[in-house]
Amino acid sequence: MPTVLRAERVERSFADGAGDPVPVLRDVSLSVDEREFVTVMGPSGSGKTTLLHCLAGLDRPTNGSIVLGDTDLASVSERERTLTRRRTIGFVFQFFNLLPDLNVRENVELPLLIAGETPRHHRARIDELLDALGIARLHDRPPHALSGGEMQRVSIARALASRPPLILADEPTGNLATKAGEETMDLFRDVRERFGTAILLVTHNPRDAAYGDRVLFLLDGVLDPTNTLSGPDLDATAVFSRLEALGI
Ligand SMILES: Nc1ncnc2c1ncn2[C@@H]1O[C@H](COP(=O)(O)OP(=O)(O)O)[C@@H](O)[C@H]1O
Ligand SMILES: [Mg+2]
Repeated sequence: MPTVLRAERVERSFADGAGDPVPVLRDVSLSVDEREFVTVMGPSGSGKTTLLHCLAGLDRPTNGSIVLGDTDLASVSERERTLTRRRTIGFVFQFFNLLPDLNVRENVELPLLIAGETPRHHRARIDELLDALGIARLHDRPPHALSGGEMQRVSIARALASRPPLILADEPTGNLATKAGEETMDLFRDVRERFGTAILLVTHNPRDAAYGDRVLFLLDGVLDPTNTLSGPDLDATAVFSRLEALGI
C-alpha cells in the first residue's frame, strides 16, 4: 500500500527559560498508508500536539525527517512546504478553530479560497461534504449557533474541502460530551469509508484510540513500536489493558 506520511527519528526540543533545550519529542518514527486509520494514544503533555504540528509542516523538527506524499519537508522551501501541506493534509483541531464571522458553508469553503480557487466552481463538492457530514441544514448558521458536535462536523468538512489524502486530528473529541464524541469518532470512520481518506488521530481517550486499525503509544515523547496494537482483537478493553501494562 502506498504511504501518505512517513516520519523517521523525529525529535523536537524547545528552549527553556535559560535557553537550554528541553526535549519534547525524543524519537518518533511512524508511517500512515493510504486509507489507513491510525490512532496515537498518549497522556496529556506526552507531545501529541507537537508531533501533529511537525507532521503537518506547521512546526519544524529539531532532527529527523518527515515525508508527505513524495515531498521531504526538510528539503523544500517554505512556499513549497505550505503547498505540500495544503495538497496533502486536512487538519482537525481540538478547539475547532472556526472563523466566527463566517457561516458554516463559508467556513468549509475557506481552504479553497486560501488556495486561490473559486468556491463556486466546487459547489457540488461542498454540497456533498455538507450532506455527508450531516450539516447541510445548518449551512447558513454562524459557528456560535452550533453545538460542539456540530462545530466539529464543520471542521471535519473543512478539512476535507481540498480532497486531501490525509486528515490529522488533534484530540477532536477533547471538548465534546461523551455522546457527541462518539458520534464524531463514528464520523471519522464514515469519512474514511466514503472518501478513502487516511486518518492520523491523536487522543488521550482509549475508546477513541480503539477506532484505529493500529494504535500507537506516545509516552514522554517516545513512540516505541513494540507497544503498537493492531488486529482483530483491537478494542477499547485491549487499549485499557495495554495502558495498565505500561503503568499509565
Ligand atoms: N512552543 C513550546 N515551547 C516550549 N514548550 C512547549 C512548546 N510546545 C509544547 N511544549 C511542551 O511540550 C510538552 C508536550 O506538549 P504537547 O505537545 O502540547 O503535549 P500533548 O498535546 O500531548 O498534551 C509540554 O510539556 C509542553 O509544555
Ligand atoms: Mg495536545
